[in-house]
Amino acid sequence: MDFTIATRTFANSNVLAKPTELNSDFSFKEGVVEGALPFKETTAGWHGYIPWHDRPEWIALAKEILDAAQKAQVESPFKAGQKAYDDQTAKCNATGGIVGTRFSEYFMRLGPVLYHWPAESWETVRREKSKNMQHVLSFPYNGEATKEDIVKDVITPNPLHFVRNHGNIPIIDADAWSLELTGLVNDPKSITFAQLKTTFPLKTITCTIVCSGTRRKEQQLEALGEFDELINAPWTEQALGTAKWTGVTLKTLIDYCGGMKDNATDVEFYGADTYFKRNKPDNYIVSIPIRKMEDTIIAFEMNGEPLAAIHGAPVRAVVPGYIGARSVKWLYRVKVLPHPSLAPVQSEEYLYFTHQTGKHNYKWSDGFQIGGMPISSAIMSPKNGEVVYHSGKVKVTGWAYTGGSENWVERVEVSPNAGADWYVVPREGITAKYWHAWRLWSVEVPTPAEGYLDFTARAWDANMNTQPTLVRDGWNWDTHVTNSCHHIQIYSVNISNPATAARLALLHKHNTPFEPVHRPLTFDPEEEGAYLEKIRNGEIRRDPVE
Ligand code: MTE
Repeated sequence: MDFTIATRTFANSNVLAKPTELNSDFSFKEGVVEGALPFKETTAGWHGYIPWHDRPEWIALAKEILDAAQKAQVESPFKAGQKAYDDQTAKCNATGGIVGTRFSEYFMRLGPVLYHWPAESWETVRREKSKNMQHVLSFPYNGEATKEDIVKDVITPNPLHFVRNHGNIPIIDADAWSLELTGLVNDPKSITFAQLKTTFPLKTITCTIVCSGTRRKEQQLEALGEFDELINAPWTEQALGTAKWTGVTLKTLIDYCGGMKDNATDVEFYGADTYFKRNKPDNYIVSIPIRKMEDTIIAFEMNGEPLAAIHGAPVRAVVPGYIGARSVKWLYRVKVLPHPSLAPVQSEEYLYFTHQTGKHNYKWSDGFQIGGMPISSAIMSPKNGEVVYHSGKVKVTGWAYTGGSENWVERVEVSPNAGADWYVVPREGITAKYWHAWRLWSVEVPTPAEGYLDFTARAWDANMNTQPTLVRDGWNWDTHVTNSCHHIQIYSVNISNPATAARLALLHKHNTPFEPVHRPLTFDPEEEGAYLEKIRNGEIRRDPVE
């Protein structure tokens, strides 16, 4: 079968040639490789899945092609596909996000099978997600809810749940899906979707998934833009969401395989999407330690609905308490290992380097492999830069979350003066405790002061940990896990103050809005003659007495 892309026609060869045979066998036209390519979808009903991990020779060939394009500075295929991206670019820029040209190019350069996946990803976003999403990175798609939407309910509506992708969005037919249970288990098995749903006891958990990149923008602003080499999306504070996830525990499935061999330590999850690291494609593969098996759900429902494609349909892992990266979407294989996964997402990404480690000295071996997410919180209203009119108390709302195990959010405090005084969120102002979910909170903070004020929040967990004071305290190369106290600046206008009330009345009389704050008044702030007289008669003395 032939495919037409832009003005080019490609033969979709099913012949698997050895990389050496293909060495000089490809060329580029409009940035896209021409020639017989082996990469293809191998399983009926699994669109968007190429089994890279089982085909190292395909990975090598793809790398060869992408390296060659890079070296020869082959023109971007993005140009040819530009039409599909115009809308995407505009929408992403409108919400302060980035487009992800480099990642789209990886896919588009590799020929007909992968060429359309970036554009298809955007179509899925439009089909499945709310129009209110803030697009952080258009491809691979990363998006978060707005600050207003995210705190409306403890359970995040599915269309508003944040999305963090590393590559394309596979569309897998549930009836064609099966899960391979393999590695160090006594009796390896494969199960179908129907078996998963009907053979085992089901469990539903309320669980917040948090990306380790949430609030990354605060670190990025601190480090003066050193980040364009990394795929780290500039998340604000909404890269998290809470759902009721239904499925079967991982422990149940491993027991179904007759349990594990004695040397088992970790469980690897395989996701069907394609992601690139330094010109090498692979599937999305990470692992968790076997001690997390009992908590982990192999889920097929999110808030009582079948999983949406963008959230991993038909089946994904949900690992409570761990960073979202371990909750693998489009799950197709579970493999028990005698060590953590060696795949790049596990071994080379999602590592935490402490402060003195960076581009100048970092080695993968020095990173902590991020598991449990530490205590964090953020203020969702008021917003940074907002003018707040109040009568001596400012209503502040937000979220608080902690990961780990045997842990929950115990308390939240808010300060109207950068951490000098703290006010506790009262019991009635915070939602119920869950083992694995956030708490939403709201508190009226006494605020007699006016003008620019620095509000900050901090949460405490059940183990009496709280958040670091400054972004700098937790700054780390790769900018993961920003959990320092979240700060916002507001302009406080206390209308219980008679002078302020009089000024607002005067503005009203002059039909002049108060905002923007820095626009000058259109009338004198006091009667000029009386003011000058005070200077003349010494009532106002600018200089010291002696
Ligand atoms: N699974 C696959 N297969 N591919 C991915 O890119 N992203 C991970 C995780 N699972 C990812 C994945 C990350 S980093 C996060 S934070 C969560 O999915 C986000 O889940 P969500 O998109 O359903 O909110």
